Formats: sequence, C-alpha cells, structure tokens
Amino acid sequence: MPTFIKLIDEQDIARRVQELGQEICRHYGDEPVIAVCVLKGAFLFFSDLVRAFPQQMDVRLDFVRLASYGDRTHGAEKVEFKKDMETNIEGKHVLVVEDILHPGLTVAAILEILEEHRPASLALCPLLDKPARRKAPVSAGYVGFEIEDKFVVGYGLDFAEQYRNLPAIHVLQE
Ligand code: IMP
Ligand code: MG
Repeated sequence: MPTFIKLIDEQDIARRVQELGQEICRHYGDEPVIAVCVLKGAFLFFSDLVRAFPQQMDVRLDFVRLASYGDRTHGAEKVEFKKDMETNIEGKHVLVVEDILHPGLTVAAILEILEEHRPASLALCPLLDKPARRKAPVSAGYVGFEIEDKFVVGYGLDFAEQYRNLPAIHVLQE
C-alpha cells in the first residue's frame, strides 16, 4: 500500500492561488489574456486560478492536451497536441497553466509550438516547480510552490491516473 505524506494543504493552496490571481491580473492590466490549461494535470489549479482573477480582467480560456513520444529519461522529447487550442493566439498575451515543471521538457516543447503562432507574449504558470532536475532552459513567470525532488500527487497530479482528485498535495511513498 502506498503511503501519503501531506506536503501542501488545501488552505495553503487556496491562499497561494488567490495571490497568483491578483499578481497575474496586476501584470496584464487591461490587456486581454488567453489562459491555456494543459490537461489533465492542471485542471483543478486552472479552475481555481481563473476564478481568482478579478472580475474586470479580460481573460479567455482554452485547453490543450498533449501526446508525447520519445524517451523522456534521455531528454529526447517530441510533443504533439492531442487536443489543440481553439483560439487564435496571434498578437495575444498567452498564459500557459501547467501542473508541474519537472524536468521542463514537455513545457519547453509546448512553448516552442505556441511561439510559432506569434503571440504578443508567452508566460508560464506552473502550480509546482521542482528545479532540482531541470533539463530544459525554461523559467516560469509565476510559480505556485517550489518543492523538493519528490514525487507528488493530488490537486490534479496523478500516479498512473490515480489520486488526481485529492484536494491537497501529497508526497507518494511506495
Ligand atoms: P516536464 O514538462 O518535462 O517538466 O514534465 C512535466 C510533467 O511530468 C508534468 O506535467 C507531470 O505530468 C509529470 N510529473 C513530473 N513530476 C511529477 C510528480 O511529482 N507527480 C506527478 N506528475 C509529475
Ligand atoms: Mg502533465
């Protein structure tokens, strides 16, 4: 049986998400923003984050889902959208909302694809960042929490598709 050690509780997540919502809104001001949820891992974070944006913020939502091929452990990642964006992002400010940055290869590939559509700007907002084993030179404009190099589940994050529904973030130990 796996054991769970709670790493970040519901209240701390909620507090940080509110802060991020305010910070992001302050940054974009009156400019329209397209917030892109990277499925599935970011679904809960995304739904809380967009509700933390003040009402006057001009934001549209879109979703992508990835299919990645190649050997992740050797950093040879090829990423395609299994579900592509439905919004034209040319000339628009785009905020990519991810579950976790680690080691950054998928995210780097997503940013590269989006860059081809010539957005006005491209920013990254992962809920979690595990900088310890970064392989791609990506930096996030907005990070929920920086964590140690431990495998975590809950609040959208899975292990073999399980535990996404847990309301807090836990370290999973076999
Ligand atoms: P990256 O973009 O190459 O950094 O890959 C990040 C992806 O790996 C995330 O979107 C998750 O799907 C998965 N991942 C990395 N670390 C964890 C973890 O601790 N728990 C659950 N999924 C993880
Ligand atoms: Mg993911």
